[in-house]
Amino acid sequence: MERIRITGGRTLAGRVRPAAAKNSVLPLLAAGLLCEGPCVLRGVPDLADVDASLELLRAVGAQPERRGADILLPPSRPGGRIPTDIAGAMRASVFYLAPLLTRAGQVELPLPGGCRLGPRPIDIHLDGLATLGAQVDAGADRVTVRRAGLLQGADYTLRLPSVGATLTLLMAACCAQGDTTLRGAACEPEIADVAVFLRKCGARIEGAGTPVVRIRGMGGPLPGGADHDPVPDRIAAATYAAAVAVAGGQVTVEQCRPGHLAAFLRFLRAAGCEIAAGPTEFTVRRDPASPLWGGADLRTGAWPGFATDTAPLAAAVLLRARGDSRIHDALFQNRFACARGFAAMGARVRADGRDLSIRGVQTLHAATVTAPDLRGGAALIITALAARGTSVVQDAGHVRRGYQDLPGDLAALGARCAAGQTLSDVAKKNLLTVQMG
Ligand code: EPZ
Repeated sequence: MERIRITGGRTLAGRVRPAAAKNSVLPLLAAGLLCEGPCVLRGVPDLADVDASLELLRAVGAQPERRGADILLPPSRPGGRIPTDIAGAMRASVFYLAPLLTRAGQVELPLPGGCRLGPRPIDIHLDGLATLGAQVDAGADRVTVRRAGLLQGADYTLRLPSVGATLTLLMAACCAQGDTTLRGAACEPEIADVAVFLRKCGARIEGAGTPVVRIRGMGGPLPGGADHDPVPDRIAAATYAAAVAVAGGQVTVEQCRPGHLAAFLRFLRAAGCEIAAGPTEFTVRRDPASPLWGGADLRTGAWPGFATDTAPLAAAVLLRARGDSRIHDALFQNRFACARGFAAMGARVRADGRDLSIRGVQTLHAATVTAPDLRGGAALIITALAARGTSVVQDAGHVRRGYQDLPGDLAALGARCAAGQTLSDVAKKNLLTVQMG
């Protein structure tokens, strides 16, 4: 089991650059299957979910190739069956529904895995595909989607602005016959980014990143390919900013889009941080002797609201802020499983489903805690930066799903933070080496 050791009490200083956005790269890897030309994705971080995506692509007959930080996606004629173990490893397997339905005519998807954030239905993906003419057969643990002939463009309203469903329907509509209008679409920056990629490949899309998206279908695969630099990861940028707010110091997050995390930066400013933002970088400064201010009443929402993925990061900042605060996550039922770890470090928190109540405390102490999910794990690591003593965050494999090397990034900024294996894992590995001679 991966675990991370953090010794609190150090302030942070320096510059850090977020990698390409995980929530762009994962759908882009799937979207490459729609293209008859070769594609290249630049600056792709080494994430567990990227590895799983490359494995999934190979399993369906594509031949992706990683060259340093770039991923080459040669044209392919993929099959439609996604292996259960891969699909179960990540939520992003759902992004392969539309491309495989388009290219192979049918797709069988074991119900996707991912973070334990609560129920992760895909009804909007399936309802939208059915509206485009697909036949959907949803079983208890898998779904099979088929098409007889080309999908047909339609006017479809999403019952809620699902990021994943918007991407599924955008990809399906690009290759359908006729025009599609998506209403009530999600507007996250990653959606506009995927649309830029698809347009480079020949798709005809207008309005991506707004609630109404219009697509003129190609009536088949996209004719071209693309060399694409995905947008920087706004949640990773928010993670580094939260780390400075918690630990104190001054850090510049560079080569990013501050506008993509404006709500979070506004929250940090209200909590007592100095924020100076330009078009492609921002600096967070907090004197460790100065107090953090609570009294926040945050509600997450779809873009441009307060991003759900930053809710645990905001909680980490508020644990030692003066006053009572509350965070409500409107998207996921189990967003605050990390509250258990906060409490183990001495925080005064109460998690009740979608709500987290916080009463700020003066000091936190080190503890051994368990990462419940990706962003909850990141929030526990950040919290430990300000806890007295050395904490251990176990099950840190969750964190590797979304950050290439969060401990390394924080250590480069001055934190005492390092990843390692549990002793039993090291022993097992050594034993294996001995046995294999
Ligand atoms: C994407 O998940 C991201 N994952 C999540 O990031 C992010 O938290 C989420 O969008 C919201 O921004 C990836 O892009 C791989 P949704 P997704 O569909 O697409 C409900 C992280 O930490 N819903 O917008 O699954 C759903 O249950 C991860 O990086 C339906 O009811 O999110 C949830 O309550 C975590 N039916 C809400 O919508 C559907 O068919 C938002 O889900 C689809 C979704």
